[in-house]
Amino acid sequence: MEQYAIKGGNPLVGEVEIGGAKNAALAILAAAAMTDETVIIENVPDLRDTVVMLKAMESIGIRVERCGRHTVKINSGAVSNLVIEDDGIKKIRASYYFLGALLGKYKKAEVALPGGCNIGLRPIDQHIKGFRALGADVRIEHGLIITEAGQLRGSHIYLDVVTVGATINVMMAAVMAEGQTIIENAAKEPHVVDVANFLNSMGASIKGAGTDVVRIRGVQKLHGTEYTIIPDQIEAGTFMFAAAVTKGDVTVKNVIPKHLESISAKLIEIGCEVEESDDAVRVVAAKPLTHTHVKTLPYPGFPTDMQPQITVALGLSRGTSIVTESIFENRFKYVDELTRMGASIKVESNTAIIDGVPKYTGASLTAPDLRAGAALVTAALAAEGVSTIDDIKFIERGYEDFPQKLQSLGAQIEKINTERELRKFRLKTG
Ligand code: EPZ
Repeated sequence: MEQYAIKGGNPLVGEVEIGGAKNAALAILAAAAMTDETVIIENVPDLRDTVVMLKAMESIGIRVERCGRHTVKINSGAVSNLVIEDDGIKKIRASYYFLGALLGKYKKAEVALPGGCNIGLRPIDQHIKGFRALGADVRIEHGLIITEAGQLRGSHIYLDVVTVGATINVMMAAVMAEGQTIIENAAKEPHVVDVANFLNSMGASIKGAGTDVVRIRGVQKLHGTEYTIIPDQIEAGTFMFAAAVTKGDVTVKNVIPKHLESISAKLIEIGCEVEESDDAVRVVAAKPLTHTHVKTLPYPGFPTDMQPQITVALGLSRGTSIVTESIFENRFKYVDELTRMGASIKVESNTAIIDGVPKYTGASLTAPDLRAGAALVTAALAAEGVSTIDDIKFIERGYEDFPQKLQSLGAQIEKINTERELRKFRLKTG
């Protein structure tokens, strides 16, 4: 089985280019189906999840052409059917973006119920509430979400929870509805804004994205566009915290520092130096890390997708820290794996109480989900000795060339397939 083998102890030093934002790309790829004209999208990260989305698009007759590793040309002029249920699509959360995109354009869509990281219940009631408010009928049959509408009319929708997915999905469903739609209590994440900017570049009329009130004025149709996806705030944050836990000096390049403000603020709180420039952020961890408290919140609060990464760092920080997960119900599963490395963390409901320890020791670990898997890699990079990490397919869903980028910063990490390769890695790294 594919694993990462990691020999800890090397400080990460150097510069790393950050790729396109996964959670913007997955929605934008679906939204590209909303026009019959050609759409060119740049800075698409090359990930398991983006490959799944592109395959699903081809399965309904959308023409997809890869123009280089990070640019795709899409034409949806010959869509043959509106039912998306291939096996790959059932494993990812973002499959539900096809509902908003195809309903918005064709007034009909059938998509397999979404999968995604097992970090909580992850209902889709707010998506359904939004579609119904626009006049669509929505039902779930045989594992498919089926939605259709004779006519979509603008509506005033108040989301009961701040939800990235539902904000984006309702926005897409509303762009060609009759009249104005207002989404209250909308999510404000950078990737929500990126999807709105993409749709506006296609001729949509969306205002207020990035605030908690988004106003959409329906238009007749959308036209082709060329668009570049924003950098990935969470990939950047993961490398920034990897610098902290390995006592390194890492500059993340091709980022938007404003998107990283809550992450930079926490790194400064625990004793790191953080230097911002126009499109880069440098993190230097010259002093021992100190404790702090953090609560995950919708943007601009501290991102839930950075919760495992900061917990790893606080596990090595002097003093007692508290991490509260306010977005998902079950996002501390990885703590059991950290405990095997010597961490001292007690989880009570949605709170982790962390007593910092002087070091982690290498162990055989399993990635429970995407971001926890990446966080376990950072723990192994800081640990004494060799670690192995199983189920790295989760990590590859959201991090392009993760081992290679870490190697370029001085990490001793390799993807291995057999015991023999592990023995060779142990001999090579001493
Ligand atoms: C997106 O998931 C991201 N995934 C997640 O990133 C991220 O953690 C999450 O937003 C929060 O930022 C993608 O974009 C593909 P939500 P999403 O709807 O849209 C509840 C990663 O690692 N909720 O904002 O599913 C829900 O249960 C992944 O890249 C409802 O109650 O998240 C949760 O408690 C992991 N009803 C909260 O809202 C709904 O209809 C936030 O969920 C929808 C959501």
